[in-house]
Amino acid sequence: MKLDILLGLQWGDEGKGKVVDYLAPKYDVVARFQGGPNAGHTLEFDGIKHVLHQIPSGIFRKDIKNIIGNGVVLDPVIFKKEIEALAKYNLDVFANLFISKKAQLIIPTHRLLDAAYEVAKGKKKIGSTLKGIGPAYQDKIARQGLRVGDIVLPSFKKKYQKLVESHERILGFYKSEYELKQLETDFFESIKFLKKFELIESEYAVNDELSNGSKVLAEGAQGSLLDVDFGSYPYVTSSNTTASGACSGLGVAPNKIGEVFGIFKAYCTRVGGGPFPTELFDEDGKLMQKEGNEFGATTGRPRRCGWLDLPALKYAIMINGVTQLFMMKADVLNVFKKIKVCTGYKMEDGRIIDIMPYEIVEEKIEPILIEMEGWSTSLEGVDEFEKFPEQLRNYVYYLEQELNVPINMVSIGPDRTQTVIRGQVLAHQ
Ligand code: GDP
Ligand code: IMO
Ligand code: MG
Repeated sequence: MKLDILLGLQWGDEGKGKVVDYLAPKYDVVARFQGGPNAGHTLEFDGIKHVLHQIPSGIFRKDIKNIIGNGVVLDPVIFKKEIEALAKYNLDVFANLFISKKAQLIIPTHRLLDAAYEVAKGKKKIGSTLKGIGPAYQDKIARQGLRVGDIVLPSFKKKYQKLVESHERILGFYKSEYELKQLETDFFESIKFLKKFELIESEYAVNDELSNGSKVLAEGAQGSLLDVDFGSYPYVTSSNTTASGACSGLGVAPNKIGEVFGIFKAYCTRVGGGPFPTELFDEDGKLMQKEGNEFGATTGRPRRCGWLDLPALKYAIMINGVTQLFMMKADVLNVFKKIKVCTGYKMEDGRIIDIMPYEIVEEKIEPILIEMEGWSTSLEGVDEFEKFPEQLRNYVYYLEQELNVPINMVSIGPDRTQTVIRGQVLAHQ
């Protein structure tokens, strides 16, 4: 079998958790390949609302294996809390959740460094989730990080101490005041807890599953426009959030990739700093934030809101090789009489372009917007595409024509059941 990938095409929070949970029964394995506790993936079903950060969103489906891959940066303290928060659901997490020995560990000083770096950036701060993501990936690339497999080594504490000392030299420079001792007590307790899980060579596990005919879904975190190479650098996260990240983050070869599901909101949001050409600062923006309940699932921060951005979406489709699109949160636009879509950008020198420009961070870019009729009606209970109001169907047809990729799912509410399938989502069924 081939590996299917599901990822966000915008700045994160597109609704990945909901869709992975929805699709999970069609799969045998769900695997995370990058990111870490900066992610917040919300699942809603049977009156339950639950946010996952590092644990794959297949965890609520009992027969599914969940794998945290080598490309992930794992915070054991947050991991322990996440597992404890699942206790009430009676899931057999020890049987269904496996962690790559090659995943990197986030240690307490990574979080302190994240905060210190943000303070040092002043007005140009990234708006990091402050979970230690950047510093942990920095140590990975500098070839001095600690990996999950290290926790069973007799030399683990010594290795840990050496890394902390290198961090303390930098933190001292920022004169950060902190209580490392308490953080370390929690950390080592969580390391003990982590040892109860099966630590695996996930690249073998995933490839064996594929060879044996299992269906594996890779669950992206963050969004394509936060990718460290292709996002609005430096206002990005520190990993490759795009499809190639699934290859390196799980050890799966490019010729083993099947479907690439690209998911996007019917509008745009962004949390943290950085350019956002279609951002709204008016009543429409406030209404979008209210209707979409646009507050971060990890930090609770309000998300910035704006109209759908086609040049940005086309760019993400190109980089990822998206084969199917899923449009999320269509219901949030129910209240808008007119819906706008950005079709190009006007640059400072007056040039009009329809690509994602390198200058996006430095220049003030004006969006060129077209206007479409809204549907101004509730989508409650609608379960077929053909029953959608005509204006919503037209919105979907227009986007498909522009993007040249079929929109095979439209989500009309946060619950598992509020999902309208159109076309053939899973060719291998
Ligand atoms: P993720 O990070 O991509 O998994 O997305 P988040 O969970 O951070 O944010 C998506 C939010 O939108 C969550 O609160 C979801 O419950 C909610 N959501 C997902 N799909 C829909 C939808 O179609 N309509 C509405 N109204 N909410 C949705
Ligand atoms: P999910 O998986 C939205 C943003 C942060 C910040 C930038 C860098 O829920 O879609 P980091 O903590 O990675 O150093 O922050 O990236 N960011 C996200 N925004 N959704 C996420 O994840 C995000 N993960 C990071 O707000 O702007
Ligand atoms: Mg999220």
